[in-house]
Amino acid sequence: MYKYPNNITTTIMKIKNIHAREILDSNGYPTISTEIEVWSGEIGRAEVPSGTSTGKTEVVEMRDQNPDRYNGKGVLKAVEIINTKLKDLLVDKEFTSQKEFDQMLIDTDGAEFKEKLGGNTILSCSMAFARAVTNAFGLQLYEYLAMAYWDKQYNNKNFKLPTPQILVMEGAKHGNWATDIQEYMLVPNIETFKTFSEALRASTEVFHHIHEILDSKQYSVGLGLEGGYAPKELKSNEEALEIILDGINKAGFEINTHFTLALDLASSEFFNEEKGIYHLKTGNKILSRDEFISLQQEWVNNYPISSIEDPLHQDDWEGWSIYTQKFGEKIMVVGDDLITTNTKRISKAIENNSINSVLIKLNQIGTVSETLDAIRTTVENNLNAIVSHRSGETNDDFIADLVMATPAQFCKFGAPSKGERIVKYNRLLDIEQRLGA
Ligand code: PGA
Ligand code: ZN
Repeated sequence: MYKYPNNITTTIMKIKNIHAREILDSNGYPTISTEIEVWSGEIGRAEVPSGTSTGKTEVVEMRDQNPDRYNGKGVLKAVEIINTKLKDLLVDKEFTSQKEFDQMLIDTDGAEFKEKLGGNTILSCSMAFARAVTNAFGLQLYEYLAMAYWDKQYNNKNFKLPTPQILVMEGAKHGNWATDIQEYMLVPNIETFKTFSEALRASTEVFHHIHEILDSKQYSVGLGLEGGYAPKELKSNEEALEIILDGINKAGFEINTHFTLALDLASSEFFNEEKGIYHLKTGNKILSRDEFISLQQEWVNNYPISSIEDPLHQDDWEGWSIYTQKFGEKIMVVGDDLITTNTKRISKAIENNSINSVLIKLNQIGTVSETLDAIRTTVENNLNAIVSHRSGETNDDFIADLVMATPAQFCKFGAPSKGERIVKYNRLLDIEQRLGA
């Protein structure tokens, strides 16, 4: 059905123009929207996301730090860099690959954490270039990204819809500290549901039942940053888990047959570095690493949990190895803040047996090519890759195509409730139809 260009001419990848502007993300903070026009006149636009519970080793966002605008979070400096310095650098340049384009930006910046130009500045250009070239080739974005991933050699049959981790409830920084756990997600059993669209339907029905349960308890049905319910009335982390199980049941589904659960503990957010303890606000519990691991053992014993992200804080390499030794056979142990989509850190984690799964976020590393490399290192070492959104998102659906293009088998795009999350799920539905799945 699709025709792939077999002679990728440099003229297609020649830059005619580039323009950026400041827009808002889903939290009402500024972010960058960049358009790149290639020689044929095709334009690609990209909008970059932004995290709230960020890892220490993520690339640095360029923010204005001007307290008179958006509390210092403006991105006018980044926009200016694109519209002047990067425009001078890129216009009239020819490229033969995504990698070559990204490498030029990496070299121009030259800093380990991309702080000279800004990780957000560079990523917006990298994504916009991918889109512009995709349009110029007359491809779908996932087809172009597959070309970039497989180095132009790929097979249409490789495209497989992912298993989503679908957010239903939120706490911690994302949910006004309703609970300590940041994200509670449903993991639909793809063997049971057969298709992505059925898995999405069932998950969304559970989400609606959770709404009814909260309503009947007279709990708030306000939403957290990523669209999950975040009722302050919750008395414990466990109560949130019970409500979700009830929702699964009331929607007519069964645990394991239809759903397991995934958690993002984002535990650096409640780790007290000075005291070296985890401070759980619900129940005011002070826990050592061992005590926190024991509590998680209880959760894993009592609830159908198949995946835990950031179970320990981001500097505790030793703890992560102990943790993975203990839980790695049973559940996905997912590194987010620990890894920050950084290939070197993935390799270190493999050496130390610290994880068995990696969260993949474009803006943690700052270019499309480096993100593809992170996925490659992950899957080639038999770890799971989960392509993820950020808490601050836009209506850009790039990550839906990213997960399709690569062997990453999981995605995490938030709750089925807010436009900037829905647009990613809807893009997967679109791709599912295109593939005739
Ligand atoms: P963030 O959270 O985008 O606020 O960093 C997402 C996550 O922790 O997975
Ligand atoms: Zn996380």
